[in-house]
Amino acid sequence: MRTQVCIIGGGPSGLLLSQLLHLKGIDTVLLERQSREYVLGRIRAGVLEHGFAKLMREARCGDRMDREGEIHDGFFIAHGGGMDRVDLHKHTGGSSVMVYGQTELTRDLYEARDRMQGVVIHNAEDVLPHELLSVAPHVTYRDGDEVVRIDCDYVIGADGFHGVSRKSIPKDVLREYEKVYPFGWLGVLSRTKPVSLELIYARNERGFALCSLRSQVLSRYYIQVPLTDTVGQWSDDAFWQELKHRLPAEVAARLVTGASIEKSIAPLRSFVAEPMRYGNLFLAGDAAHIVPPTGARGLNTAGSDIHYLYQALVAHYQRGDDAGLHGYSAQALARVWKAQRFSWWLTTLLHTFPDSSAYDHKLQQAELAYLFSSAQALASLAENYVGLPY
Ligand code: FAD
Ligand code: PHB
Repeated sequence: MRTQVCIIGGGPSGLLLSQLLHLKGIDTVLLERQSREYVLGRIRAGVLEHGFAKLMREARCGDRMDREGEIHDGFFIAHGGGMDRVDLHKHTGGSSVMVYGQTELTRDLYEARDRMQGVVIHNAEDVLPHELLSVAPHVTYRDGDEVVRIDCDYVIGADGFHGVSRKSIPKDVLREYEKVYPFGWLGVLSRTKPVSLELIYARNERGFALCSLRSQVLSRYYIQVPLTDTVGQWSDDAFWQELKHRLPAEVAARLVTGASIEKSIAPLRSFVAEPMRYGNLFLAGDAAHIVPPTGARGLNTAGSDIHYLYQALVAHYQRGDDAGLHGYSAQALARVWKAQRFSWWLTTLLHTFPDSSAYDHKLQQAELAYLFSSAQALASLAENYVGLPY
């Protein structure tokens, strides 16, 4: 088989890129290790920045998002028993975010790929990129007993943090930067009315909590838990009890509880791999970088990678201009590190660290007091939350 761009990974990064390129007449083959049902069963991001929503529209996948997604002009931070609102609209001169689940967005992208007869190969086993430094790289995968070879011009590694692409870059070329946090987030999805129209990020001595949503009948809640905890240890009742403890009393009093329809623990990690290009392999999204979910930056930063890569590949194929491909890694990493900084800052501000001292607690309180007394500090938070420009 031959294609122009072989994309490894059928998460939002890979699907979005293949859809955008196809619309420009650039041929792609996408290889996904899992079945479609498995990919669509993962519950992850909920908050999209304006730039990501724009890319979805450009990919002609924005109709349902625009119909069913919710525009949010602000969110709350609960601390010290009360709540303060971050007015995104006011502090960014009119920007906002879109609440629309990654699961729905991925479904929309798969449907668009089907409509355009895009080549998406599921259950591709043992995917391996080869000869990445040559002008004729290829990718192999196993389909049962048969090994299939795909020849291409470029390989895109959009296969998430545990994928094979980053691992194919030699160790003496790749530099990895990592920070692992001593806790995870236990997330619950429930078919209940959300406790608040806007998200609530809660700082509490017992640990961080987040009240989010997917729609007015579907809620998504998270609590910070030790890394040693397992999902099996947390009954629904125990989860709701703990969540209530961490929210201001008046919020806890109106929390509607119900059976969980999904429950999982995600460890928190900050990670960046540099460079994001090796020969004719380009990394994008979680394959190259991870942030803790606190600032809702992960998918959104994958979106900026895809934007840069899309522009660069179109310039190459339509105009023979390779400046974008040469500059991709540096351009993407410049924005990636800003998202790293913001996610680390918000995580540090709102979580309870097992080894933190009384002094650290006082600093968190002072930082929150400063934030809500300074229009400049709020503007900085809001600017980063709605997404820095591409
Ligand atoms: P992935 O979604 O990981 O997709 C990679 C794909 O590659 C997968 O389908 C995988 O099966 C496939 N794959 C892996 N290995 C191989 C292989 N060897 N061969 C072929 N295929 C392979 N981000 C936000 O912006 N906002 C949020 O509100 C937000 N909330 C989050 C909440 C949680 C609990 C979590 C865990 C994450 C959250 N994120 C959020 C982050 C966001 O979900 C990720 O950044 C996003 O999924 C990255 O997309 P991706 O396509 O790069 O990678
Ligand atoms: C979510 O709804 O899953 C979500 C929202 C905001 C975050 C992280 C996750 O910061």
